[in-house]
Amino acid sequence: MAYIPFDLTGKVALVTGGNRGIGYGMAEALAQSGASVAIWGRDAKRNTEAAEELAAHGRTVKAYTVDVADEKAVADAMKQTAADFGRIDTVIANAGVGYGSPSFVDMTTETYRKTLAVNLDGVFFTLREACRHMVERARAGDKSGGSLVGIASLAAIEGAARNEAYAATKGAVISMIKSIAVEHARFGVRANAILPGWIATDMTSAAQNNATFAEKVIPRVPLRRWGEPKDFGGLAVYLASDASSFHTGDLLIIDGGYSIF
Ligand SMILES: NC(=O)c1ccc[n+]([C@@H]2O[C@H](COP(=O)([O-])OP(=O)(O)OC[C@H]3O[C@@H](n4cnc5c(N)ncnc54)[C@H](OP(=O)(O)O)[C@@H]3O)[C@@H](O)[C@H]2O)c1
Repeated sequence: MAYIPFDLTGKVALVTGGNRGIGYGMAEALAQSGASVAIWGRDAKRNTEAAEELAAHGRTVKAYTVDVADEKAVADAMKQTAADFGRIDTVIANAGVGYGSPSFVDMTTETYRKTLAVNLDGVFFTLREACRHMVERARAGDKSGGSLVGIASLAAIEGAARNEAYAATKGAVISMIKSIAVEHARFGVRANAILPGWIATDMTSAAQNNATFAEKVIPRVPLRRWGEPKDFGGLAVYLASDASSFHTGDLLIIDGGYSIF
């Protein structure tokens, strides 16, 4: 028999950027564990395809076309998602972008602002609306709380050369998550951050095709491989489940040991 707290039957999870990459890996595991799943992304076609694949696990799955950088779109979509599913128990703020630059001194203000718009504003809007929903529910007497997850990056604690704007947004996600965790514990709302290392997704396609990277970086990963989106499934299920009901304000590193070697 399965360990019961990992059964997510009756719970509703929202994953932003859930139509591909790490977000899809988490959304799939959540659906496989019994959760109803909402995914948000900008690309309507990819959203529909991902929702169909996820629904094959036998759960209710809905996709919403949302740009998380758009404050009103996020507020409207959070209300719509909660109305469609009746509630939202877990919100994973995963949608993110990474624009490199030839060097820090050549990084344009446009790149900086585009990065902040999604990785910082988008996470702020998403988590604030999620908190509003969860706090309102708690004030109405629902004691089930909620789980918030921010997808940061190893870049938050190690920095990212030529990607300073990106690293700064990820450091900010950690600070936001810790603050939310303290403020909302009284409502039973938990907040944790996940810090992925090198993961094979569209975001890292250039590095995956770079011979120097393959020769110099991946051999430094003690587990000797790229991470994959499915490597985030177990953690998503744990954080969405009652098994993590005393776990909040934490940083969880999933990097194959890269940061300690
Ligand atoms: N891959 C890595 O090595 C790595 C390492 C550390 C941290 N991370 C973080 O992990 C998260 C997921 O990254 P990934 O590697 O899975 O990237 P990915 O494969 O490029 O996927 C990014 C996801 O975010 C969505 N997205 C991007 N901008 C959006 C916006 N403005 N509004 C709504 N959705 C948006 C995309 O959907 P649409 O294009 O349809 O909008 C897509 O679903 C990001 O926060 C990233 O910074 C990744």
